[in-house]
Amino acid sequence: MKVVVVGAGVIGASIADALADRGVSVTVLDMRGPARGATQASAGILAPYLEAHDHPALLDLTSRSLSLYPAFMEKLAAADVPVEFARTGTLEVALDDEEARRLQGMKAWLDARGVEAEWLDSSALGEREPTVHPSARGGLFIAAHGFVRARALVAALVAHAKMSGAIFEMPVEAASVESSRDAAVVRADDRRYEADAVVVAAGSWSKRVRVANVAALPMRPVRGQLVHLTWTDGELPRRVIWGPRCYAVPWSDRSLLVGATMEDVGFDEEPTVAGVQAMTTAASSLFPAAASARIEAIRVGLRPKLPDELPAIGRYARAPRVIAASGHYRNGVLLTPLTAALVSGLLVDGVEDPVLAQISPDRFER
Ligand code: GLY
Repeated sequence: MKVVVVGAGVIGASIADALADRGVSVTVLDMRGPARGATQASAGILAPYLEAHDHPALLDLTSRSLSLYPAFMEKLAAADVPVEFARTGTLEVALDDEEARRLQGMKAWLDARGVEAEWLDSSALGEREPTVHPSARGGLFIAAHGFVRARALVAALVAHAKMSGAIFEMPVEAASVESSRDAAVVRADDRRYEADAVVVAAGSWSKRVRVANVAALPMRPVRGQLVHLTWTDGELPRRVIWGPRCYAVPWSDRSLLVGATMEDVGFDEEPTVAGVQAMTTAASSLFPAAASARIEAIRVGLRPKLPDELPAIGRYARAPRVIAASGHYRNGVLLTPLTAALVSGLLVDGVEDPVLAQISPDRFER
């Protein structure tokens, strides 16, 4: 079987790897290069109970994908590309009493679901996470959560997929895809690619890839700006910290990624003074030492958002050789192992996982 994957972000690269691993002949096209879209800015937080506690369908998808992560990372070890992956939990911090009450309510909700969670009062929080502002009222620790470095993850996926024969062609901008009885055809720049199936995994740019007979997904880019800090003053936070106006991810090289804004500004990927100010102010109110950190880089990504905040994964009924795999919004990295498993199961084994009915790309046409 021959498959073309459009998009070499974390979703496209993971699908290419899963397919190549199963003996499929895979070509990946990307208009820039691997991990150059939303993935390059992603903080890689793996936290279904923070991101999706108020969205049951998304919670099912994200917690299922999190459970696949350890085996997914283990398989990638063969690529010999180091990828920082930690299941050190998340700590959501309350800076006022109202937040503290909300988080205690959240703990009761997690307890009822059998999810390990611990409420830390102000002094326990100071002992567990001394970098957090001493005036914080407490924090909710969720052990199952963690993070992965997204760009390194894509480098490992690309290397692993290449070991199984996948070909990456870039920069190549796919313009359209047609699905006929015998083949799917991608037109890109002056080239034409024929395959048994095409997977469109181009994040926010997926709606610019015209699929014949099918309406474009109602996707909107949501800009996220993050500041990448190098810590200079004492201990770095020990785990992912989630505050009221920002989250922070500590990397083993003593840097801290602080994100992220949520901005509806179309395809504008430029950083702004307001974005950087919002993130640095939020970081300083959470960690006193952030004020003396160095700004290493500003990262900007466009999250692909669909109206129901669920991804679109699966075949188009009216273009059955075309598979959508986009719209992952705030949780692309978290949903990666599940997306790769669903798409490779569909194409290689012909298995229609029941969840595909809920996340079908056709659901917006009904
Ligand atoms: N998942 C975090 C974000 O999208 O900012």
